[in-house]
Amino acid sequence: MISERVLVALMRHVAGRTFNSRTLPSAHSSEHPLRVCASTPRTLYVHVPFCREICPFCSFHRLKLDRELAQRYFDALECELDSHLHAGHSYRYLYVGGGTPTILPDRLSRLLEGAYRRWPLESVSVEANPDALEGELLRRLVDSGIHRLSVGVQSFADRHLEAMNRLRKYGTGESIRDRLAAAAGMFETLNIDLIFNLPTQTEEEIRRDARVLRSLPIDQVTWYPLMPSDPTGNRHVAREQAQFSLINRLLADDFSPSSVWCFSRGATMIDEYVIDSHEYAGAGSGAFGFVAGTLYANTFSVVDYCRRVAQSGMPPTAMVRTFSPVERGLYRLLMDFFATFLPVARDDGFYDAVAGFLARLAPLLGAGSIEGGTVRLSLRGRYWLLVLMREFFAGVNALRQTCLAAAHYSGGSAGVGA
Ligand SMILES: C[S@@+](CC[C@H](N)C(=O)[O-])C[C@H]1O[C@@H](n2cnc3c(N)ncnc32)[C@H](O)[C@@H]1O
Ligand code: SF4
Repeated sequence: MISERVLVALMRHVAGRTFNSRTLPSAHSSEHPLRVCASTPRTLYVHVPFCREICPFCSFHRLKLDRELAQRYFDALECELDSHLHAGHSYRYLYVGGGTPTILPDRLSRLLEGAYRRWPLESVSVEANPDALEGELLRRLVDSGIHRLSVGVQSFADRHLEAMNRLRKYGTGESIRDRLAAAAGMFETLNIDLIFNLPTQTEEEIRRDARVLRSLPIDQVTWYPLMPSDPTGNRHVAREQAQFSLINRLLADDFSPSSVWCFSRGATMIDEYVIDSHEYAGAGSGAFGFVAGTLYANTFSVVDYCRRVAQSGMPPTAMVRTFSPVERGLYRLLMDFFATFLPVARDDGFYDAVAGFLARLAPLLGAGSIEGGTVRLSLRGRYWLLVLMREFFAGVNALRQTCLAAAHYSGGSAGVGA
């Protein structure tokens, strides 16, 4: 019998080989995929990469706030959204992430107003930090027509907030808890982000975070494993696996899994737009999109982004990859599995063949069971998926580093991102 450790190492190896800067190549295409694709995705992701200060653990596309550049960036975003409109795209779902989308509150309000004017939006999700949970900014977010607010808490333990350079910026765990309690009911969905497997984090601290979480009127929690920004970095797999099991046990009575790391109290909007939407457009520097079988990322250089959008309405791409039918099937499978259940038949030959095979394999490996034409992942299966998704994000991170290095090399050094 193959041991659990070997299987997890195998998953990591497979994922590492699949999602790396060779398989997701950098490319500069003369025409942006959104201009030429026949498809019209319903979901738009908009990226705002600026932050007041950089958190040392963060592996996303972000850079320290430069107000003048950020103003130019929001101007460029407006211009890019117009280009999407003129290309005939009509969105229903908008997800604004970062970085810190609330960094210039006036500009975020204008961006959302403009998006509502352009499209018949049914649902708007925005990411924020805990300092958005009070006063004028909170009022403004409520008035801007946001359905889902996602607040990055990371941990309720002050020693971890301090280590993450967030205690001084966003206050103690107790004060964040009080602000979350006061914001209850203001949005259709209130999500908080937490992280587990932090350096030296104990099981008792996880239990305490879960207790605080369960005591709050929060609709949803996205509890990420710490994802090392260095692809070769140590994952502390044994602790990660133990804490993942613990979290699943602690939340089982109040929440149910909506993805491998997202848990919802009821039928609330899922954190990951990549699960909800099989196709999505991306706007802004470093935003990813997936349309008509093509995965692309806009330039990670903020300066380049502003310059090129001002010239042509669309940004340069940092990466474009058109998937073969087999790769499309695999991508779809991964996203369906990420949502922890996999329909066995989708009227797609390749997908159905692989899903059928996995449906037979999963119970044998103790990774899931078949319920009404769907493979439902067990805790063990969900952990394997977590390993795959963590490596997928590590691959994306490595790709971003490669693209940033290329931007520096070609002279675009200012504001290329951190
Ligand atoms: C990229 S941030 C953007 C929103 C906001 N600035 C914030 O800090 O919450 C969204 C979430 O990503 C998660 N995150 C960032 N870096 C991570 C990492 N290295 N490992 C795990 N989660 C991470 C954090 O939980 C964070 O709340
Ligand atoms: S965690 Fe959030 S606030 Fe911190 S650097 Fe990353 S995006 Fe910015």
